[in-house]
Amino acid sequence: MPAFRTIDDLDVAGRRVLLRADLNVPVADGRVPDSTRLERLAPTIVELAERGARVIVASHFDRPGGRKVASMSLAPIAAALGAVLGRPVAFALDCIGPEAAAAVSALPPGGILVLENLRFHAGEEANDQAFAKELASLAELYVNDAFSAAHRAHASTEAVARLLPAAAGRLMQAELSALEAALGAPKRPVAAIVGGAKVSTKLDLLGNLVARVDCLVIGGGMANTFLAARGVEVGKSLCEHEMAATARDIAARAAACGTRIVLPVDVVVAETLKSGVATVTVAIDAVPADHMILDVGPATVTAIIAALGEARTLVWNGPLGAFETSPFDASTVAVARHVEKLTAEGALLSVAGGGDTVAALRRAGVMEGLSYVSSAGGAFLEWLEGRTLPGVAALTA
Ligand code: 3PG
Repeated sequence: MPAFRTIDDLDVAGRRVLLRADLNVPVADGRVPDSTRLERLAPTIVELAERGARVIVASHFDRPGGRKVASMSLAPIAAALGAVLGRPVAFALDCIGPEAAAAVSALPPGGILVLENLRFHAGEEANDQAFAKELASLAELYVNDAFSAAHRAHASTEAVARLLPAAAGRLMQAELSALEAALGAPKRPVAAIVGGAKVSTKLDLLGNLVARVDCLVIGGGMANTFLAARGVEVGKSLCEHEMAATARDIAARAAACGTRIVLPVDVVVAETLKSGVATVTVAIDAVPADHMILDVGPATVTAIIAALGEARTLVWNGPLGAFETSPFDASTVAVARHVEKLTAEGALLSVAGGGDTVAALRRAGVMEGLSYVSSAGGAFLEWLEGRTLPGVAALTA
């Protein structure tokens, strides 16, 4: 990965710093029920403020489509950020123009201001130069701490980074360092666990990983597609039969690269997906025609644990079963706890990310036990696909 500047390289004292953050967090009844993203952002804001910067936080929230939508105001999130920081946070009713400029002028050294939703202006998503110039005019320095929005080539993530001296914030720095350690220059052997519902949504990801890892564990609904492509009867299970040729192609590429693929050898099945339903564990060649596969079985968990025992690095995206519904979270929880143990022993560097994955790891109670859990969704996936993220490229240019 090319070198990028960090806030260590910026003299921020007394300067106006435009901080691109990702304040796109869940909001319910005007409150923020999960402030993980805000907590992860806090170290950069606190450090900049304590070094005497005037911190101007810019972010999108939701997808208002270039117009003002009252329910998509960042005002409640700015208040939640203030609570997380334990410091006053001012709010500007617009992200550019006179209101933004006035709010910035009122900001003392060490002060923190949140600008209104960037996506209230169409210029943001259009990566419009004139909009980027208006944003840049508010500040003297630019810091991007929004890895989770770095897959978007938007004015606040891309164009503005070319208009001001730019650097990565601490969260961006941590994400990029973890990702580099996991796939850029990893300790081998490298294992990947890829789960989730569909092969079709993770084709590029599988295509990239198959050539870069030593062992690829496939779980979740997408394993059914691989199994069916081998002629296994999967009953009523979620399965993209039309992707059979693609699954065979990925398996052939794995064989050509010397990458081992681990697929379920036993599975937990039920007639329907609902909590408390009667379940049975069967060998993979004995799935009843009127049942569906909802989790991998204990023999598969043992095989995954054995594969992880040989690995030095793990990249994990996607749960192994229908983890939201108990007891189909059992394999994901068991593997997650084992990953936590190997990580604590120093035997494994473990990096995970993606919305479902984070929810599953939280359910397993191991959020603090992996080497790194990315707070990004789409950006983490695009990175796993091997794509260049425009927001990162703009920092390294
Ligand atoms: C996210 O929540 O993954 C990021 O904030 C990106 O949001 P977007 O998909 O609306 O661009």
